[in-house]
Parts: sequence; structure tokens; C-alpha cells
Amino acid sequence: MRVLLTGGAGYIGSHTATELLNAGHDVTVVDNLANGSRVAVRRAGRLANGVVAFHEDDLLDTRGIERTFEAGPFDAVVHFAGLKAVGESVAEPLRYYRINLTSTMNLVETMLAQGVRHLVFSSSATVYGDPERVPIDETCAVHDASNPYGRTKLFLERILEDVVRAHPDMNVARLRYFNPAGAHPSGDIGEDPSGIPNNLLPYVTQVAVGRREILTVNGDDYPTPDGTCIRDYLHVTDLARGHVAALEKLATHPGLVTYNLGTGRGQSVYEVIRAYERATGVEIPFRVGPRRAGDIPTSYTDPSLAEAELGWRAEKTIEDICRYAHEWQTRNPTGYPED
Ligand code: NAD
Ligand code: UD1
Repeated sequence: MRVLLTGGAGYIGSHTATELLNAGHDVTVVDNLANGSRVAVRRAGRLANGVVAFHEDDLLDTRGIERTFEAGPFDAVVHFAGLKAVGESVAEPLRYYRINLTSTMNLVETMLAQGVRHLVFSSSATVYGDPERVPIDETCAVHDASNPYGRTKLFLERILEDVVRAHPDMNVARLRYFNPAGAHPSGDIGEDPSGIPNNLLPYVTQVAVGRREILTVNGDDYPTPDGTCIRDYLHVTDLARGHVAALEKLATHPGLVTYNLGTGRGQSVYEVIRAYERATGVEIPFRVGPRRAGDIPTSYTDPSLAEAELGWRAEKTIEDICRYAHEWQTRNPTGYPED
């Protein structure tokens, strides 16, 4: 397939570009580089002994999207582009609503006009809010999120439902990621957050290489066995393969499908620290701080639907995630170089 990846210069998009090329697809990336890197796109191509075409454009600009589609035709779109920082979304809700909602609506309108009928959308386990049960399967209720970022995912899921209802020839896969983490085993591409990392694994890797002094554990008084929050950490290359599997599913014209992508195993913050130390031999100094607003105690998926319908399952362990994240951070201590 000829696949357009929006946001493909970012973390999950660059890994997905490599896996799509490995699976024999053609890949074009469109990204405004707000949080992405041209170097990531180039390296993603090289890792698969191929080339990823790149267009710098903004999905908020309808003319920009049309220009990108002129480079087609495309058979399918995988839509990663958007903003994702929870705290920032609380401070700047309108920016989050404008960018995440408008860019997706612009994209889908252009797809409809151009006759492109397959879309894979990056959703998030955040749509389950504080889940009614764990493991979380796709029949669990979705809840209003505690922050504007999470709400954009919920709204977009609903908007896509309406689009498929109005255009029954559209095929849409909503993929609800649990906690993407780690880096390509080569250490050439990985997660490159700007500023202070919000998420656990990038913070730990920056402590490991001496870029930050100490990790703060956000509370150890949760109702979990060791008191720290439990999450389902999923290796980013496994997640990328999940997108390849979803695209292949869309080729069978299923309409709207929704899958949780995770490992099915939960790890506490303390377990992640110990796994990192085991995998790398590097000690991670930490102190216990207060709880972080909006955190839920426990989240992990029941991955059986994706396994049954996509033939996909996560293969990498938490130690693999830690080892590859460490390799990436050691080889690229300050992230991607300027192009
Ligand atoms: P990322 O920030 O690394 O990648 C997003 C990319 O989109 C960036 O390269 C950025 O420059 C680009 N972008 C942003 N606005 C754009 C616009 N208007 N036009 C064109 N490009 C634009 O993020 P990621 O971690 O790779 O996440 C990808 C997607 O997956 C996002 O939609 C995110 O919400 C979702 N998601 C991520 C996680 C996670 O933990 N990383 C979890 C669940 C869901
Ligand atoms: C966060 C986002 C969520 C998003 C998900 C994946 C919040 C409230 N939620 O969730 O919307 O879908 O990332 O991108 O931000 N931790 C520490 N110290 C740190 C960093 C994290 O103890 O320096 C803890 C957190 O409090 C949490 C766990 O590690 O208990 C995992 O945190 P994180 O990686 O941010 O993922 P989520 O909490 O799942």
C-alpha cells in the first residue's frame, strides 16, 4: 500500500515508518516539525534499507494538506499528528482543541474528497479514564477525560464514528495505545521529548545518562501492591507493527474497528525502576514525591481482541524496553541533532 503518515517525524510515527517499509509498503510523511525531526524520518528509512518521502506541512492549513495529497495517490492514512502533553493541554485548552480536532477534520475531509478510504487513528487508553475494571477490554465504558488532551481523543473517536456512519465506504481503525515506551533496537530512533519529560521511561533514561539528577516517584500510597501506579508499557516497535496489522485489516473493508494495543501485563513504577537497573546495570536514584493530579492507580489491557482479529501481540518485555531506551539515550544523549 502507499501510506501517508501524518506526524511521522515524531516518536511513534518514525518507528511505524520503519515497520511499514519492512512490510513492503511505500511511506510518505507529512509533519510540521512542531515536535518531530527530519533526522528521525531519514533514519527511519535507512533502518529498513529504504527511503521515506517527507513533506513539511501543517494539517491546520487545508492548502498544505492538498499539497501533500498531490504527492499521492495514497491508499491509506495513518494519523499520528497532534499535541499530546497533558499538563500543557490543561494550560492551553483552546490550542489543543484547535490543533487536534481541526487538523483531523481537515485531514478526513481531504481523504473523502480524494477517495482515500482507509484511516488508522492514534487514540489512547486515556479514553477509559479511571477504568471500570482491569484488565481493560474494548467493551469497557469510555469516560470523560480529566484533561483537554484526553478529551480531544474522546471527541475524535466520536467524530470518526459519525464519519463512518455518513460514509459507509470509509474504513477506520481506532487504536487505543496503552503506554508506548522504548526505542528501535538499533538505538538510532527513539523518544526525544522537548524540555522536562512528562512520562516515566524518558525521565528514567535521562537520569540514567546523567542529564537529570534524580527521579521523583509520583506517590507510593496508591492501592497497589507496592503503592506505586501500575501501567502497561508497550514497546514502540511492537506498537508500530500493530499499525501495519491494522492497515492490513482495513483492506478487508471492516468499517469502524477499535483495538486496545498493550501487552496485557501491568508494571508498577518501582518494578520499572528495578527492570531498568537489571537491564542496564545503571542505578536509578529516586525520591518519593506527591501524587500527580489526574493519575489513576492501575491500567493494563486485555489484548485478546487485537490478537484474535489482527494476529498481533506485543513481544518485547519491560527489560527489552529499558535496554533499548537506554541504548537510544546513550547514543543520542541530547536527542536528535539539528538537521
Ligand atoms: P510526537 O509528538 O512524537 O509526534 C507527533 C508528531 O505530530 C510530531 O512530529 C509533530 O511535529 C507532528 N504534528 C503536530 N501537530 C501537527 C500539525 N498540525 N501538522 C502536522 N504535524 C503535526 O507524539 P507521539 O508520541 O509519536 O504520538 C503520536 C500520536 O499518538 C499522537 O496523536 C498521540 O496523542 C498518540 N498517543 C501517544 C501516546 C504516547 O505515550 N506517546 C499514547 C497514546 C496516544
Ligand atoms: C500519561 C498521561 C496520559 C497518556 C499517557 C501515555 C497524565 C496524567 N496522563 O499517563 O494521558 O495517555 O501518559 O502517553 O499525564 N511517573 C513518576 N515520575 C515521573 C513520571 C511518571 O512517578 O517522573 C509515574 C506517573 O505518575 C505514573 C507512571 O509513572 O504513575 C506512568 O506515567 P506516564 O509515563 O506519564 O504514563 P501515564 O500515567 O499512563
